[in-house]
Amino acid sequence: MNKQVPISLTVNDEQVTLLVEPRLSLIDMLRHHLHLTGSHVGCEMGACGACLVLLDGKVVHGCLTLAVQTSGCTVQTIEGLSGSGDIADLQAAFHQRNALQCGYCTPGMLMTAQELLRKGGVPSREDIRDALSGNYCRCTGYEAIVDAIETTARQRAALVQAMAGADYE
Ligand code: FES
Ligand code: FES
Repeated sequence: MNKQVPISLTVNDEQVTLLVEPRLSLIDMLRHHLHLTGSHVGCEMGACGACLVLLDGKVVHGCLTLAVQTSGCTVQTIEGLSGSGDIADLQAAFHQRNALQCGYCTPGMLMTAQELLRKGGVPSREDIRDALSGNYCRCTGYEAIVDAIETTARQRAALVQAMAGADYE
């Protein structure tokens, strides 16, 4: 019988405690034990970006992280990020620009995009493409995804500028 290890962590603002096999990946724990299926599984070797989630605020590959490594940590999945409203503008931009077709890559794309945009400012298209270099999309050709991220960056930068202006009034 496989030995099970108790772990306790916070997932999307909820405390969870469960028993897992030491070899269980974070993405399998999220999808199969917690039924959070928004994050996907593609290559299972850190190449496609379908499984990206936030671990203590940093984007990690759920397929390369063991569930036992996350005990005591905070995990946010695409469900949590989406539910927080923090990426509503990014999701709207993806929708408006048709930046997805099958949608398999989209949760990972949104994770990467949000991490890039959190740095502030408006990244160049080259920077956006560079940031997306670990996210595979087999459908869109990337152009629309880059457009959506660039649009969101411009909107956020304009908002920051408008708020800074309002502070001086
Ligand atoms: S499934 Fe994790 S990077 Fe592809
Ligand atoms: S929209 Fe299908 S893989 Fe990206």
